[in-house]
Amino acid sequence: MVFCKVFKTLLLVLSVVIVVHGFYLPGLAPVNYCKKEDESSNCKSEVLLYVNRLNTGESVIPYEYEHFDFCSPDKNLKAPVENLGQVVFGERIKPSPYKIEFMKNMSCQSVCNKTYKGDNDASLTKLSILRKGISLNYQHHWIVDNMPVTSCFDVEDGHQLCTTGFPMGCNLNDPKNMCIGNIVNKKGYYINNHVDLLITYHSGGQEEWGSRFGNNGGRIISVKVIPRSIKHGKNLDCSSQEPLEIKSLSNTETLDIKYTYSVFFFKNNTIKWSSRWDYILESMQHTNIQWFSILNSLVIVLFLSGMVAMILLRTLHKDIARYNQIDSGEDAQEEFGWKLVHGDVFRPPRKGMLLSVLLGSGVQVFFMTLVTLAFACLGFLSPANRGALMTCAIVLYVLLGTPAGYVSARIYKSFGGEKWKSNVLLTSMLSPGIVFSLFFIMNLVLWSKGSSAAVSFTTLLALLALWFGVSVPLTFVGAYFGFRKRALEHPVRTNQIPRLIPVQSVYTQPIPGIIMGGILPFGCIFIQLFFILNSIWASAMYYMFGFLFLVFIILVITCAETTILLCYFHLCAEDYHWWWRSYLTSGFTAVYLYLYCCHYFYSKLQIEDFVSEFLYFGYTLIMVFLFNLLTGTIGFFSCFWFIRKIYSVVKVD
Ligand SMILES: *[C@@H]1O[C@H](CO)[C@@H](O)[C@H](O)[C@H]1NC(C)=O
Ligand SMILES: *[C@@H]1O[C@H](CO)[C@@H](O)[C@H](O)[C@H]1NC(C)=O
Ligand SMILES: *[C@@H]1O[C@H](CO)[C@@H](O)[C@H](O)[C@H]1NC(C)=O
Repeated sequence: MVFCKVFKTLLLVLSVVIVVHGFYLPGLAPVNYCKKEDESSNCKSEVLLYVNRLNTGESVIPYEYEHFDFCSPDKNLKAPVENLGQVVFGERIKPSPYKIEFMKNMSCQSVCNKTYKGDNDASLTKLSILRKGISLNYQHHWIVDNMPVTSCFDVEDGHQLCTTGFPMGCNLNDPKNMCIGNIVNKKGYYINNHVDLLITYHSGGQEEWGSRFGNNGGRIISVKVIPRSIKHGKNLDCSSQEPLEIKSLSNTETLDIKYTYSVFFFKNNTIKWSSRWDYILESMQHTNIQWFSILNSLVIVLFLSGMVAMILLRTLHKDIARYNQIDSGEDAQEEFGWKLVHGDVFRPPRKGMLLSVLLGSGVQVFFMTLVTLAFACLGFLSPANRGALMTCAIVLYVLLGTPAGYVSARIYKSFGGEKWKSNVLLTSMLSPGIVFSLFFIMNLVLWSKGSSAAVSFTTLLALLALWFGVSVPLTFVGAYFGFRKRALEHPVRTNQIPRLIPVQSVYTQPIPGIIMGGILPFGCIFIQLFFILNSIWASAMYYMFGFLFLVFIILVITCAETTILLCYFHLCAEDYHWWWRSYLTSGFTAVYLYLYCCHYFYSKLQIEDFVSEFLYFGYTLIMVFLFNLLTGTIGFFSCFWFIRKIYSVVKVD
C-alpha cells in the first residue's frame, strides 16, 4: 500500500536503529535446521512442534490441549514464553509429545496409547469430553517453527485452500460436517488419532546463507497436516482404512486409542523463506473484496467531501460575506441563520464533566489505534509475531494516559468546571474501569467453564498494576498540565440569557440527526468489519493491515465530515446544543457496529449454548464501547474546530 510505503520510509530510521543494535524482533529471525549428524551451533536438528488451545466456530469457549485426554508431552519440556497480548487473547502454547528430526522421514510412529474401560467413571468422563469436542468441531492449532500447521484441501480449478488448524475428529451424525480422510457412509464420532505431517523445506547453498551445511540443511517453508482416523490392530498399521469410532462403552467393553504420526520431508527451492507466509495468507484474504470495500468507502468519502466543500466554499462564504456586509451597512437588518446563535454556541453543556472525561478517553483510544495500525502496517506486528498486536495496543493504551488527562482537563476547564479532582479521577478510572469490569466478568464465566481463555490471577494482577501503576499516574501528569494552562478562549462571548430554540423540523431534531449521522461512517467500514470479526471469532488470520489503515483514515474523514455537515445544518436551524450532539452523531456508528455484530452472530456463527452467547455479546460490548469513544471523539473535535473557525471570521459587536 502507498500509505505503508510512506510510513516505511518515515520510520526506516527506527528500523535501522533496531537492526544496527542487533536485536531481531522476536519470532522473526529465520532458524536453520540440519540433519542430526551435522548439528552445530549454526543449526539444530530437532524440529519442535507446539500445540495451542483448541477452538471452534460453534462456541466461543476455547480449551487447552490438556483439557482433552490427548497424549501429554515430556514433563521437562518447557512452554515458550508468551506475551501479555497472547495471554489476554486466550492463546496457550504448550510443548507437544510429537518428536520430529529434520530431514528424517518417519512413518507410523507411536505417540502414546490410551485405554478406556466401560466400568470406570473417569474413563467415561474423558470419553464424553472427547465426544463433545468432536461434536462441536473443535480444531487443533499446531505450530512449527513459528508457523501454523495448515490443513489443505483441493478446490476446483486446481487450487488448494489451506486453513490453519484441523479438526480433532469427525462428527458424522451432523450432515454439515466436512470430514477429511477415509470415512464414508458411516455414522458416529470418529477421532483423528493419526496425522501425516508434510514438511517442505528450502535447502540453501553456501552462497545463499553463508552456511556450512549445504544440502543437508535448510529452513522450513511450510508444514501441512493430513489428519486421519485409524483403528490400529494389535500392531500399528497406518495403512489401515478402518476409522476409529468413539462409541458408548458398555460395562465390559474397553476402547483403545493409539495415537500415531508420520513425517515426510520435501525439498522445494522455488519458494523463498521470506515468502513462506504467502500461501496461508492467500487462502485467507480476498484481495478483490478488499479493493471493492476500499472503492465503496472512497465513493462515500468523495460524496461527503463534495458536500462539505460545497458548504464551506459556497454557502459559508456567502453567509460570512453577507453577515459582514450587514454589519458595515447602515441599515440594521435582522440577523439570520447560524450567526444568530453566536451568543449561545459556546454555552457550556450540561453534564460537561462526563463529556470531557469521554473525550479524554476517546483521545487515548484514537492514538492507540492510530499507532498500533501504523506499526502493523509496517509489518512489525505480522502474524509471525504472535500476540504482538494485542500487546502493542495494551501498552500504548496505558502509556497514552497523559494525553487523555490533558485533553479531559482542558475541555473541562473551558466548560468552567471546578471539580478538577473528580475530573482526573474519572478520566483515569471510568473507561478503563468499564473495560476491565467487563473483561473480569467474562473471565469469571470462562474460568467457571474451565476454558483456556480464562486468564490467570497473576495476569489480572499484572493488568491492574499496569492500570494503577502506570496509566493512572500518567493521567494525573497530563491533567496537571491541562489544568495549569489557561482555559481555551472562544472567539465569541456567551450571552447571559439563553436564546429560545425555535421548533425544529423532523430532520433537524436531535434524535433523527444522530441516527442518520452514523450511517455513512458505518458504510465505509462494514466490509472490512466482516474480515475482522472472522479473524476474532472464526480464527481466520488477519493480515491486510495496509487496507485496515486506509479504512481507518477513511473512517476518520467520514466521521469528521458527517458531523460537520449535520452541525452546520443544526446551527442554521438556530439549535445551538451541539456539544453532546456532535459526540453522539458520529458515536452512533458504534450502535450500527453492535447491530452488525448481532447479525454476524446469528448468520455466521453456529453457536447455540448460552454461555458462548453471553461471552460473545460481552466482548462485543467492550468493542462497541471503545469504538464509541473513538468515533464520538473524532466527531466532537471536528465540529469543535469547525465552529471555532466559522465564528472567528464573522464580526460580532
Ligand atoms: C502402543 O501400542 C503398540 C502396539 O499396539 C506398540 O507398538 C507401541 O509401542 C505402544 N506405544 C507406547 C507408547 O507404548
Ligand atoms: C521422505 O519421503 C518423501 C516422500 O516419500 C520423499 O520424497 C523424500 O525424498 C524423503 N526424504 C528423505 C530425506 O528420505
Ligand atoms: C515447489 O512449490 C511450487 C509452488 O508451490 C510448486 O509449483 C513446485 O512444483 C514445487 N516444486 C517441487 C520440486 O516440489
